[in-house]
Amino acid sequence: MPELREIVAALSTPIVGAPMAGAAGGRLAAAISAGGGLGMIGVGNVATVEQVRAECGIAAASGERFGVGLMCWSLPQNPELLDAALEFEPIVVSLSFGDPRPHLAKVRATGAAVVAQVGTRAEAADALDAGVDGLVVRGSEGGGHGRGVVSTLPLLQQVLDLTDRPVLAGGGVATARGLAAVLAAGAVAGWVGTPFAACAESLFRPELKEAVIAADTDQTVYTRAFDIAQRFDWPTRYGGRALVNTFTTSWADRTDALQAAVTDELTAKIKQARVDADLSLAPVYAGESAGLVDRARTAAQVLADFAPFRDYLRAAQRWT
Ligand SMILES: Cc1cc2nc3c(=O)[nH]c(=O)nc-3n(C[C@H](O)[C@H](O)[C@H](O)COP(=O)(O)O)c2cc1C
Repeated sequence: MPELREIVAALSTPIVGAPMAGAAGGRLAAAISAGGGLGMIGVGNVATVEQVRAECGIAAASGERFGVGLMCWSLPQNPELLDAALEFEPIVVSLSFGDPRPHLAKVRATGAAVVAQVGTRAEAADALDAGVDGLVVRGSEGGGHGRGVVSTLPLLQQVLDLTDRPVLAGGGVATARGLAAVLAAGAVAGWVGTPFAACAESLFRPELKEAVIAADTDQTVYTRAFDIAQRFDWPTRYGGRALVNTFTTSWADRTDALQAAVTDELTAKIKQARVDADLSLAPVYAGESAGLVDRARTAAQVLADFAPFRDYLRAAQRWT
């Protein structure tokens, strides 16, 4: 299998569709790859082997290359999720949110390139030490889970100086201007989540896509409140960025109080709100770039809208 740098160089648009549990399934991954990027399937902490097989099966049946992203902290409880994904020969595997070391040899044996999302300089140094093939700088403005401490641009500048291995940039990369900015800085590709979460092929329910399209850049919040309420065992250094709603207004910055107050009833209420798409209580994971997503699009249209990045790179050349 080709190396990460070659995989990215072969794309017609330097965009990797970020793995997103609950949004990025096989259909979205295949559509992104067919459109000239590389689509990734997100495997969450509550995924089942059957779901992983079904979503990877859809992507594999398309004949397109695709990747898979898993959460290291949850793999010890569910090691079969990684095995199930590897059966479908993803070309890139993201081992994020925890220590990738226990899984590296198994993934490497399949020939897949391994990347890790990092949210601080220390996490970047650790992932490099572990031996991943490339890093994904994922700034605090990004949607879904990750670190909430450093934003994309400062972290990208810092990490690019740390390594010669390929670095992708995620968190707020949502337009041709943003893509040009991270490529000019030295990233090999953008790692794009939120714009694809809202697109036609995403697994998001229609209500969630509409909410992302309606939200502005200042209508998201980074919080652990949803994980505490649902009693998910996310390590405490990881929160998630989601759209502001009634629940986050009450609890986002009072997580210690929430931890003490959480009841079975509240846990059931949030889980039911997700089933009912009651967006006053349910999490809608999305980044600040929700404010840059202003209409319903297909994955191909999202990719096409990135195309003018070349014009911005050319315009910046007047400084060379
Ligand atoms: C709805 C949603 C679900 C996500 N789920 C995952 C996941 O399962 N695994 C993962 O590694 N990252 C996950 N992420 C984070 C993305 O991989 C990526 O870092 C982020 O979306 C990039 O920032 P952006 O949303 O500003 O584009 C998720 C993000 C979103 C928006």
